[in-house]
Amino acid sequence: MNPGQRMAQRKRTHIRLADEQAAASRSNDFDLVSLVRPALPETRVNQRVLLTDFFGAPVSAPFFINAMTGGTNEATAINGALCRVARKTGIAMAFGSADIVSKDFSRLDGFLQARAENPDGPVLVNVNPTTPVESVRLLVDRLKPVALQIHVNAVQEAVMPEGDRDFRWMDGIKRLRQAMPVPVVVKEVGFGFDVASIGMLAQAGVDAVDVSGKGGTDFAAIENARSLAAGGADFSYLQGIGASTVQSLLNARLVTQLMRGRGSTSRMAHGADEQEATMPIVIASGGVRNPLDVLKCLAMGARWVGVSGRFLHILLSDGEEALERAIESWKSQLAMLLALYGAKRLPAAARIDWTLEPRLESYLRQMRALCGLE
Ligand code: FNR
Repeated sequence: MNPGQRMAQRKRTHIRLADEQAAASRSNDFDLVSLVRPALPETRVNQRVLLTDFFGAPVSAPFFINAMTGGTNEATAINGALCRVARKTGIAMAFGSADIVSKDFSRLDGFLQARAENPDGPVLVNVNPTTPVESVRLLVDRLKPVALQIHVNAVQEAVMPEGDRDFRWMDGIKRLRQAMPVPVVVKEVGFGFDVASIGMLAQAGVDAVDVSGKGGTDFAAIENARSLAAGGADFSYLQGIGASTVQSLLNARLVTQLMRGRGSTSRMAHGADEQEATMPIVIASGGVRNPLDVLKCLAMGARWVGVSGRFLHILLSDGEEALERAIESWKSQLAMLLALYGAKRLPAAARIDWTLEPRLESYLRQMRALCGLE
């Protein structure tokens, strides 16, 4: 098998295993968050309240299709379908990693082909921190994204038999941040973000952090299945590693508090001078299963909410029109939920009160203590 065929096989397996995971809608930390519902919300349902922007571009809802695939014929077909769905429903979408274009220029065609299905809608281009600046410039120039996503995926790489063993990525992130004409989002791939790393990204002037936490697609499990099938080591003990999306959102709130100067900042950004940093926009993804999860993310401080596994599963099992219908239905339901929880406008979602079940309450207490915020 040549490297191209190996990559195609890897992507195919990722999609199949992620689809299987998403088919089994599991409980996750969103179930440990309750929004406080007013019995007298004094609102009425109005879908227009969802109209917002995505990095400055108009969109019909604050949730988007998050990064999944790219670079093979099968990936191009999936991205083409996702682009059409995004265009018809008016939401944003992210391509999966386009790092392959830096190694094989001909792979750009598949991304351009998919982009042609939604030439004017807001899209994100996704690379890794070591993708060469020149290749990323080319991708941004040709695909015209509203922002660039840089994924950080240490756990996935660790479990992948052929994965990267060098996790020094901050220099690459800073280089890309400085060279790019568009905002830069740094995202996880389902293992979440801790306080110190969000602080480091704030310090580096990164525009947004997509916490992409634990609770949905689990790449430790996916890569472990591949590793075992290839006779590699068994990393099943790493399943469930990382911070959940809810825990990561709590961590982001702690960074905001630390940056406002309350409490000690010694544990943040490895002692860097955090005075000049501004808090990046917070994007939530990882285990978002329904419109209530979206609303919980917004209430906990996320500006936008990304969905991968759930939407992929609908696309693969029921087709493009079913995904389009599902997204329209999520929009109606989210508008209804906003009214139900007393939010007359989208920004008011961030003011909905919430409570945490004891396990998360304990996590927050311990993180506050670790951050010197007690
Ligand atoms: C992903 N994800 C991903 N992320 C990324 O930054 N670059 C990528 O190329 C990919 N590839 C990819 C393939 C497939 C099949 C899936 C399902 C996911 C991760 C994705 O963007 C997201 O961070 C996680 O999947 C968690 O969200 P969900 O799936 O729980 O909604």
